[in-house]
Amino acid sequence: MDWGMKNRIARIIKPDTGHTVMLAVDHGYFMGPTSGLEQLDKTVNPLLPYADTLMLTRGALRNYIPPDTDIPIVLRVSGGTSIIGNELLHEGIVASMLDAVRLNVAGVAFSIMVGASFERDTLLGLTRVIDEAENYGIPVLAVTAVGKDMVKDARYLSLASRMAAELGTHIVKTYFCKGFEKVVETCPVPIVIAGGKKMPEKEALTMAYDALQMGAIGVDMGRNIFQSTSPISMIKAVRSIVHEDATPDEAYEIFIRGNKKSR
Ligand code: R5P
Repeated sequence: MDWGMKNRIARIIKPDTGHTVMLAVDHGYFMGPTSGLEQLDKTVNPLLPYADTLMLTRGALRNYIPPDTDIPIVLRVSGGTSIIGNELLHEGIVASMLDAVRLNVAGVAFSIMVGASFERDTLLGLTRVIDEAENYGIPVLAVTAVGKDMVKDARYLSLASRMAAELGTHIVKTYFCKGFEKVVETCPVPIVIAGGKKMPEKEALTMAYDALQMGAIGVDMGRNIFQSTSPISMIKAVRSIVHEDATPDEAYEIFIRGNKKSR
């Protein structure tokens, strides 16, 4: 691995703890104006001091994030289908590696859809992105996407995560599930978990804690932070779990204290 690649990975995964809080706000690429991100800058910019990495699209980056912002960017480079279309997550490459370099990103993210009729398209898209990204020393985060009717169990998520790693991805983003240890143990690259749909804050914090205990190196969390009643308190609470070994109770206390103040 060359110096540039190692340096970018160290910007995403903090070397002092080996963990990361990635703030995911890329939802608009297939969901449009997602609740909480209608005016993305208003929600997201106050959260940036507490995030290690920001994951978003190039359009959101250019339009909402000032270029003098000091945060490593993971750029979503897959897309092409919407939440109302017939082939959700049948994604291709939507941003070139040249543009990723121009945007000075720390990494790029690409979704794969293992088990879908079009899985081959997304897997070949991922490998093309990996080949191009490696030319520039840019790490690739593979997102193991899951369709509406698909089961997010350890068997499926291990399959998708291991495949992504075998195809050359540098970091895998997947979901927490029962038997998550198996997903981590059988995947040779670092794993972060997505948050998924908004749930009560204590549940989301417990999920993050359990994932970290079972070997995830962090979270790539969106809705459970930016749709919270107090997004700043929630990201601080998540951060305490990821970087400070806080228990779910301790983290929830951080959330509750901040939530009361913000009212
Ligand atoms: C989905 O593919 C997007 O990449 C989201 O960034 C990802 O699902 C994480 O966001 P959330 O925590 O809201 O699920």
